[in-house]
Amino acid sequence: MTILVVGASGATGIRLVEELLNRGQNVKAIVRSPEKLPDTIKNHERLSVIAASVLELSDKELEQHVAGCDAVASCLGHNLTFKGLFGKPRRLVTDATRRLCNAIKASNPKAAIKYVLMNTVANCNRDLNESIPFAQKFLIGLLRILLPPQADNEQAAEYLRTVVGQNNTAIEWAAVRPSSLIDEESASEIEVYPSPSRSILKDGEISRINVGHFMADLITNDDIWNQWKGQMPVIYNKGTALKL
Ligand SMILES: NC(=O)c1ccc[n+]([C@@H]2O[C@H](COP(=O)([O-])OP(=O)(O)OC[C@H]3O[C@@H](n4cnc5c(N)ncnc54)[C@H](OP(=O)(O)O)[C@@H]3O)[C@@H](O)[C@H]2O)c1
Repeated sequence: MTILVVGASGATGIRLVEELLNRGQNVKAIVRSPEKLPDTIKNHERLSVIAASVLELSDKELEQHVAGCDAVASCLGHNLTFKGLFGKPRRLVTDATRRLCNAIKASNPKAAIKYVLMNTVANCNRDLNESIPFAQKFLIGLLRILLPPQADNEQAAEYLRTVVGQNNTAIEWAAVRPSSLIDEESASEIEVYPSPSRSILKDGEISRINVGHFMADLITNDDIWNQWKGQMPVIYNKGTALKL
């Protein structure tokens, strides 16, 4: 397979790219700063690096980059600086998702292309009747007003859910909702649920390497894809997901 990854230079994106390469896949990575990629993958023969800021590419360029890809994965996220959180682009993840999906459609793929979005457990799947404690609803409402990245993550998943939808011939999608991100050196067992298993106020956790591996599972394993496509799986490191 060939997979286009955006946000590949991020803490999770690097883990995803590493894992896809370990699984023998070809990876194209759009990154603003190629030097951020670790030496272990930077010169890998199956990695091609496109040095660009994804939203600065033209529609035609995006179409050329997605052409021939079997999947597109986004690990984009706003940098945790004042400029990253409150400056432009305010809709980094949503605009990248929308423009990449448009590029996929324009490339007229013979079979549906997988779009795997790294999203957040602080978002709901509005297709499901998710039970959210009042305190969490209040907190998320506040985050939505105060922190642009919250609204961005919500709108990106809403784009997939409502615009791409469930019966699109060009694109199938999954929006992965990690719980609190932590860093661990090696992958471990995870628990996956269709909806959060506990309040984010008593959040479980997931390592970035496990997020990368689960996104790689979705892309490379058809059984796992068929189980979660069109959904927003919530993932926890094993043992950290308690029932609400
Ligand atoms: N923190 C949590 O507990 C948590 C939990 C669940 C979900 N999430 C979500 O997961 C996302 C990814 O997490 P992470 O820790 O892997 O993020 P990260 O290390 O900050 O990576 C973010 C990626 O987005 C890219 N990026 C940022 N601004 C950009 C811009 N304006 N144009 C193009 N690319 C841009 C970065 O590129 P550069 O390297 O060039 O900056 C980097 O590749 C978070 O941002 C959040 O939305 C977080």
